[in-house]
Amino acid sequence: MRNDRSGVIPSPNIWHWPHVYEAENRAQDVGGALFDAIRSVSDWASKTVVDVGCGSGFHLPVFAADAERVMGIEPHEPLAVSARTRVAGLSNVEVMSARADSLPVADGTVDLVHARTAYFFGPGCGPGIVEAMRVLAPGGALVVVDLDATASPYGDWMRADLPHYDPVAVESFFSAQGFDLTRIDTRWTFPDRRVLRDVMGIEFGPRVARDAMRAVDGVSFDVRYRMHVRRKPAGIELRRVGRRLG
Ligand SMILES: C[S@@+](CC[C@H](N)C(=O)[O-])C[C@H]1O[C@@H](n2cnc3c(N)ncnc32)[C@H](O)[C@@H]1O
Repeated sequence: MRNDRSGVIPSPNIWHWPHVYEAENRAQDVGGALFDAIRSVSDWASKTVVDVGCGSGFHLPVFAADAERVMGIEPHEPLAVSARTRVAGLSNVEVMSARADSLPVADGTVDLVHARTAYFFGPGCGPGIVEAMRVLAPGGALVVVDLDATASPYGDWMRADLPHYDPVAVESFFSAQGFDLTRIDTRWTFPDRRVLRDVMGIEFGPRVARDAMRAVDGVSFDVRYRMHVRRKPAGIELRRVGRRLG
């Protein structure tokens, strides 16, 4: 996707500390605002969903509860194995070891391509967008959900930790590629401060993690996300041809 040899963007948090990342996923968006927002643009009931960069498959069962078919795509083999274990009892889910820019999925067969906290979908990810558009059926949607680094407090910690990260450039990239942007406010709530400290420790360097712990009173704080949506046009060419023929 970007210009490294393999096209896989390292995710130290989930690659090196999968159990802490699992606790982080459980703490995220406790009110379900993100799934509500995704469903409002592309309801997956009885549809086919691809979750790109699915990690250990945390979100696969949510889609599987209503979808006809769910495919998880994950290039980091230990995580693909974990995801397969998680969905072993779900007959409508399969997990494939692959990358966003080369999906083992037939043309025009998918209704929703979802990518959550997917750093690999950012500036330079043109091949991944083209690939998602290839597998989408007409009217289907590519939905990229990521953290909004412009919003306090979480975004302040992100920018302090990654001073070269430019959220405006990222948003401009998606806008130039024809995506609509929605900002979604969520709440993260942890069972206790020990889990919170562990999560801060995998997301940020020691100084920012310490500052973030001091800034949080209790076990809960606000986190804003951005949701970028691009649809595959539905049937326009067909109707034009039909008119001409008629
Ligand atoms: C931060 S994790 C998020 C995992 C999952 N979406 C979640 O929310 O729990 C990002 C994931 O993207 C995967 N990844 C990295 N580069 C990728 C690429 N080029 N194509 C598909 N997935 C990729 C990583 O291996 C990792 O599992």
